[in-house]
Amino acid sequence: MSIQTGMSIQTGMSIQTGMSIQTVGVVGCGLMGSGIAQISAQAGLKVIVREVDAKAVEAGRKKIDGFLGKAVEKGKLTAEEKARVLSNITFTTALEDLKPCDLVVEAIIENLEAKRDLFGALDKLCGPHAIFASNTSSLAVGDMAASTKRAQNFVGLHFFNPVPLMKLVEVVRTLETTEAVFASACAFGEKVGKTVVRAKDTPGFVVNLLLVPYLLDAVRALESGVATKEDIDAGMKLGCGYPMGPFELLDFVGLDTTLYIADIMFQEFKEYRYSAPPMLRRLVAGGRNGRKAGYGFYDYRQPAPAK
Ligand code: 3HC
Repeated sequence: MSIQTGMSIQTGMSIQTGMSIQTVGVVGCGLMGSGIAQISAQAGLKVIVREVDAKAVEAGRKKIDGFLGKAVEKGKLTAEEKARVLSNITFTTALEDLKPCDLVVEAIIENLEAKRDLFGALDKLCGPHAIFASNTSSLAVGDMAASTKRAQNFVGLHFFNPVPLMKLVEVVRTLETTEAVFASACAFGEKVGKTVVRAKDTPGFVVNLLLVPYLLDAVRALESGVATKEDIDAGMKLGCGYPMGPFELLDFVGLDTTLYIADIMFQEFKEYRYSAPPMLRRLVAGGRNGRKAGYGFYDYRQPAPAK
């Protein structure tokens, strides 16, 4: 069964050129999923977004509507274009509605079991030609692929936050991914307007392999009293031209997310540079997870609470 699937994919001309991806499923419409759905719809593809319940669907729809609305305000998009983009997106709570998809991109929580369960269920629903992709930032793509009978049709598509503004996607191939499927995934990345970086399935791929130790080192520098967080941020922004300093970026990405990724990378590599400094762990334990919590390294609460 799986050999036949692989053969039909490899011999299908349109899949080889990436042109046959017309309908994209996005599972999870949070920060990343909403961005992936938006850019796919902006590229003229039909998008089916699946969330767990009506409340999550509404929150996801609002995120996309809000981002496109801001683009209209900034003169980057017309109101007609916004309406056209939105008309390309269908929302659902039923997984079965993803049946017609040529590509399904998963952007749910970073939990291997949850992702394996999802892909196992999708494997039974979607056509044999469909490509499955995970937006995971740190889990092994091959471990998810193993929960399906289509490991050869499986890739990582790692986008960056905020998805519509960041110009990169890492396309990750596992040991099983076929050339044709990988080419098709890269073509999709380009179609949605990103520069594609090709990576193999190792923790952190390219960007987080380098970014995570940098962020952890900034926390170590703060812990050891090298400078204040404001000065470290100013140093990296003005000295290196980074758009955000490491503490601004930690708050933006989420301290909990960064800690989670660091722990996975440390587990894999057992190297000091991936070990989370105590300060990061304590802040996460205290719920100071960054911007989304209103408080991380910086305090975003309005009005500021009385000390
Ligand atoms: N629609 C279209 N364009 C928009 C927009 C919208 N809704 N909102 C903003 N823009 C445009 C602006 O018009 C502007 O374009 P211009 O340069 O042509 O004028 C540009 O986007 C920047 O917008 P702003 O001026 O409003 O915002 P900033 O200059 O403050 O930039 C930022 C915001 C893009 C988030 C920038 O601070 C940045 O690049 N930060 C770093 C983010 C980063 O590193 N992300 C990766 C995190 S790591 C990750 O995601 C991986 C994971 O695994 C951890």
